[in-house]
Amino acid sequence: MKYRLLGKTGVKISEVGLGTWQFGGTDWGNISEKDALEILHKSVELGVNFIDTADVYGMGRSEKIIGKFLKETKETVYVATKLGRREWVEQKGWPAKYTTEMVKKDIEDSLRNLGVDSIFLQQWHCIPTEMLKSGEAFELLETFKKRGLIQHWGCSIESIEEGLICMEHPGCETLQVIYNIFRQKVTEQLLPVAKQKNVGILARVPLASGLLTGKFKKGHKFPETDHRNYNADGTAFNVGETFAGIPFDKGVELAEKIKSMFNPTDDITMAQLALRWILDHDAVSTVIPGATKIEQAISNARTSSIPPLDESVHQKLYQFYKTEIEPYIRGRY
Ligand SMILES: NC(=O)c1ccc[n+]([C@@H]2O[C@H](COP(=O)([O-])OP(=O)(O)OC[C@H]3O[C@@H](n4cnc5c(N)ncnc54)[C@H](OP(=O)(O)O)[C@@H]3O)[C@@H](O)[C@H]2O)c1
Repeated sequence: MKYRLLGKTGVKISEVGLGTWQFGGTDWGNISEKDALEILHKSVELGVNFIDTADVYGMGRSEKIIGKFLKETKETVYVATKLGRREWVEQKGWPAKYTTEMVKKDIEDSLRNLGVDSIFLQQWHCIPTEMLKSGEAFELLETFKKRGLIQHWGCSIESIEEGLICMEHPGCETLQVIYNIFRQKVTEQLLPVAKQKNVGILARVPLASGLLTGKFKKGHKFPETDHRNYNADGTAFNVGETFAGIPFDKGVELAEKIKSMFNPTDDITMAQLALRWILDHDAVSTVIPGATKIEQAISNARTSSIPPLDESVHQKLYQFYKTEIEPYIRGRY
């Protein structure tokens, strides 16, 4: 496993991390605590030291499983969590504004779930653009950083515009953004600014919710409770969070074409090609694929040992994006 500096934090994190929305047990099928713990142990054994979660993943379940894992492991592991969406879920809409009391409660709950005294990285969880613009949300996190309850803060964002707003605040140390072969605008419009400002980039939804592994066939049916069923067209939240905003059958077709362009082998699978493509951009600090099975986590972690893709591969994938992918992207971006 190779490690990269996470922006201004000065901390070196694994270039392949682990996303744990899956451990919530609600939006990706019912993954057991035992399986989740096995995925965590195996990932860390392979050198992963960065884990992304959120207070709303299973309403604390994902954080609690990670808390249990932290007690079991002897390794140093950096956990990033998120806040802000619990209010959206509980109040069935965004609050007029976040208050010190709300944020204090959110942070204290995450601390308890994770079993730590201080959160390594706290992120606003895709709160509305207007709230980012006002800057108050940033000052709230500054307050809790001064109090020592969080060590660093950043923002998980939906659009380039939001990323640029967040980076205006000198305290913002990381941005978490949907970044994958289907979402290449980020390369040109966000990464250069992040690099110049030394803001760490966490690449989420790197496999377009599994589409970019090439494993799905058109018409595939996901369980009712899986967001790949109930949010496939953005009915519940931003469509970009599911299949990176590409209509499912179209995404299957695009993944098939990418597969036929590169003929993935056992040496580099389609999933690894997709993750390697992201890692080849040096402004990225880490890529955080989610996993429901231990084999997936193993394969994903091993991407770090695969050499960078040839420049011609990048050029081909860029051309393919411009001509065949871009017209189908939905959602704020
Ligand atoms: N708003 C936000 O801040 C936000 C939103 C979305 C995600 N995130 C974070 O980003 C992380 C990653 O995004 P994501 O989980 O939504 O999407 P993703 O990483 O693009 O896709 C994860 C899914 O891809 C499949 N997969 C993973 N590795 C595989 C492999 N090697 N071979 C075959 N299939 C594989 C699994 O699907 P199956 O379930 O079919 O096995 C897995 O559940 C999340 O876990 C979460 O931590 C944050």
